[in-house]
Amino acid sequence: MSYIKRPTTIVIFGATGDLNRKKLMPALFDLYTKSLLPKQFRIVGFSRQKLTHDAYRSFVRNVIEQKGHKHSSRDVDIFLDHLFYCPGLFEDAASYGNLSKFLYEQDEKLGQCSCKLFYLAVPPNFYDTIFQNVADSGLSIPCAGDNGWTRILVEKPFGKDLLTAQELDKKLGLLFDEDQIFRIDHYLAKETLENILAFRFSNSIFQPAWNNKYIGKVHIQLFEDSGVGKRGAFYDGVGALRDVGQNHILQMLALIAMEDPGVFEAKKIRLERENVIQSLRAFSREECEEYTVKGQYTEYRREEGVLPQSNVETYFYITAFIDNERWRGVPFHLEGGKRMYKKKTEITVYFKKLDSCVYKLDDNSSEYGNVLKFVIQPEEKISVRFWVKKPGFGMKLEPQLLTFSYEDTSGSKHFPDAYEKLFLSTLEGDQTLFTSSREVEAAWEFITPIMEYWRDKEPVLYGRGCKEGGIPLMGNT
Ligand code: BG6
Repeated sequence: MSYIKRPTTIVIFGATGDLNRKKLMPALFDLYTKSLLPKQFRIVGFSRQKLTHDAYRSFVRNVIEQKGHKHSSRDVDIFLDHLFYCPGLFEDAASYGNLSKFLYEQDEKLGQCSCKLFYLAVPPNFYDTIFQNVADSGLSIPCAGDNGWTRILVEKPFGKDLLTAQELDKKLGLLFDEDQIFRIDHYLAKETLENILAFRFSNSIFQPAWNNKYIGKVHIQLFEDSGVGKRGAFYDGVGALRDVGQNHILQMLALIAMEDPGVFEAKKIRLERENVIQSLRAFSREECEEYTVKGQYTEYRREEGVLPQSNVETYFYITAFIDNERWRGVPFHLEGGKRMYKKKTEITVYFKKLDSCVYKLDDNSSEYGNVLKFVIQPEEKISVRFWVKKPGFGMKLEPQLLTFSYEDTSGSKHFPDAYEKLFLSTLEGDQTLFTSSREVEAAWEFITPIMEYWRDKEPVLYGRGCKEGGIPLMGNT
């Protein structure tokens, strides 16, 4: 049953691009097959290519078929009937006039004003132009107050540094209210990340120990085994820290370290995430030298679109500190990179070992702490390492694992993709899974001094490497 009642039009800028093909259309189709889209919905693609509605429908049919969705061709046909296409240039005001006219005509046919959702699936250098044109053409104005809202979805990266993020936000703030703006960090919609709050705030065995008295360190890793692929030109202007550090990794840190919001409300949750990101110690140049490592994989400069003398990082290792009562003195090791020895995203919380009569029996007791792992990739699971007596004579300890995995025995998992959740939350007007303007700013405040320090710093080169514990080594295989 579709429970979002208002007719809705979803406009996708960048309708033939990678993101739309790989994530948006499959997510929208899945939502449709689960009856989670409004009964009366339209999806309107907007892109430079001159396509007819039917040609665009064929394009999307291909996308759905390639994804291997297990649905009848009748389902696909009905879904495609909701699709339309408006060719246009992002920088051309007249194209927005055409789009506006088309949307108006469609609403006329419907006999009522539909809610409008604008999705910017485009390179960030177009954001400014699109915001302005959407506003100038009147598209940002809701046509019927609460019964016909207008919302805008913006992909990361939001700005290139603190200043550009603030400028962008200022512009966006003139055109839309904060509750109309949905800034995407798709990591927030990953099942295990959502689970961090459930896990932390509903299990009394962990909550009392969630502080610097019991936790020794936290390690957050986002490793990808692939290189930059075809995104070389984009990536070379961005680098790993902006690409996944300023957003995904800091959001993981925020969920681990934030205070209890008291009530489960978007406003409160976003505020607590913001508070903790804001409490990150901003580094001086000396601290940048001591606590950060900038790395680049050896073949990077030969990648398509990358400058041959590029010193852009494809890897970073930062030891961050949160200057508040709960976390003072606990290092948060933040590590991300491309072309690593394997693909994995994990958050590992290391509890301090107890000063115990049992541990004292063993000279190699430095290992003896509990370890809690949130595994986000390649599979999603949560595990706790604890210590038990090794069976047999005498008293020796051995580690054991308690694991919760989302996969059933056949290896398949049963939860929606992050982009499905992002669409659904936007349609419902729930901003929990989206970053606030202050969170984005706080993240840039932490990252910007490091980027500035790195500007002229040569990266450490690494082969396919950076094994456990980080710090890239030349030729590491
Ligand atoms: C994106 C980055 O935000 O996240 C990519 O731009 C990165 O470079 C991707 O590959 C990782 O996301 P996921 O969901 O595949 O871990």
